[in-house]
Amino acid sequence: MPKRLYARSLIIVIAPMILLQSVIAFVFMERHWQMVTQRLSQAVTRDIAAIIDMIETYPQEEEIAQVIRIAQERLALKIDLMPPDPLPAPAPKPFFSILDQTLSEEITRQINRPFWIDTVGNSNIVEIRIQLENSVLRVFARRSQAYASNTHIFLLWMVGTSLVLLTIAIAFLRNQIRPILQLAEAAESFGKGRPMPSDFRPRGAEEVRRAGLAFIQMRERIEKQIEQRTAMLTGVSHDLRTILTRFKLQLALASPKADIEALDQDVEDMRLMLEGYLSFARGEVMEDPGSFDLAAYFEKLTEEARLRKRKLRTSLSGSSKAYVRPNAFNRLLDNIIGNAFRYAKNVHVDARYSMGSLVITVDDDGPGIPPEKREHVFKPFVRLDDARNQDKSGTGLGLSIARDIARSHGGDIMLEDSPLGGLRAVIRVPA
Ligand SMILES: Nc1ncnc2c1ncn2[C@@H]1O[C@H](COP(=O)(O)OP(=O)(O)OP(=O)(O)O)[C@@H](O)[C@H]1O
Ligand SMILES: [Mg+2]
Repeated sequence: MPKRLYARSLIIVIAPMILLQSVIAFVFMERHWQMVTQRLSQAVTRDIAAIIDMIETYPQEEEIAQVIRIAQERLALKIDLMPPDPLPAPAPKPFFSILDQTLSEEITRQINRPFWIDTVGNSNIVEIRIQLENSVLRVFARRSQAYASNTHIFLLWMVGTSLVLLTIAIAFLRNQIRPILQLAEAAESFGKGRPMPSDFRPRGAEEVRRAGLAFIQMRERIEKQIEQRTAMLTGVSHDLRTILTRFKLQLALASPKADIEALDQDVEDMRLMLEGYLSFARGEVMEDPGSFDLAAYFEKLTEEARLRKRKLRTSLSGSSKAYVRPNAFNRLLDNIIGNAFRYAKNVHVDARYSMGSLVITVDDDGPGIPPEKREHVFKPFVRLDDARNQDKSGTGLGLSIARDIARSHGGDIMLEDSPLGGLRAVIRVPA
């Protein structure tokens, strides 16, 4: 069964048509065509049998001349008597000829004398020779007298009209399927976080239009929801940050005591958390897709590695320009590679295109993440214990932001074991 809707619908149209035509053609050939030919052949043979009887009953020259005249005028059979030479050898039988077969059968059945027929030679005329007692009777009959000859025209009409029907069906199907394809394209590009094709409008059959409309409404709802959530997050973080700043100021003014220091640290942690929230919210703001230069980014990265005294190796195969939302994608890579820089010494970043996706693999030789925690670390504010001990800064939002961005592009991030010994992060987004 073909995969495409178009091919499938064509089969749904064509298969019954072919079946119907085969049945009709078979029944028609079998019953009608053969039957009519048989009846016609029977009638011609009957006439010939009558002529033979007459010739044998009235064997005088002038009587035979009368018989010949009557046969010519009334029966449309041109006959003459030939000397009793032996009949010629049977002509080669045509491969498929109903006429030859039925006529031979009828002559054998009704006349039962040696005979010779030629249904092939002259196209419109059939020649029959029959051995009589002391002569040979030669009969010329019109082919159409003995044969239902316009059958092929019927078949031609049948095949012709079905071809016309098929052409019409193809044209209509194409028009019906186009709106479905457009809907699929629009949904696909929405899934990849790209703008919808500008000319998208629900079209076509009612069901397809309904699906298109539902899609548009769903898209608007999702966008509104994201907008609302982002606005709230930004608002709350912002307000709290203002209060926190005031709080910090008051702490600084208060008289220095031992327990204030701990309080100060908590306030600082809270501030960092709010910053994290804000940057998370910023990532949600829809940005237009554009071109992101991987080579330039890698250059910047090399500089950063040098400053942070990390060993970095980058490789890029395929186009340097990726079609993504540049700022968001930059943040995604910063978060993942930033983690590698933070938790490891040697980092290897590889970018390549495979199966319609841009695949960026980030390997490091750090402590890695045990397989059972690899899903867990993607949750907001999750930091593993050793990371917390190693390094106080960081909120645990990095991976969740990164995955969010990858998914909004229609891609994802996977964590695996790295051949370098640490963690491997595989970022995959549609190219
Ligand atoms: N390359 C890595 N090697 C080992 N552990 C990692 C690596 N990347 C992330 N982790 C672990 O996953 C946790 C979550 O990472 P995530 O990037 O979300 O937060 P973070 O780096 O701690 O803080 P932030 O990125 O918000 O500054 C980290 O705390 C760390 O324990
Ligand atoms: Mg991080």
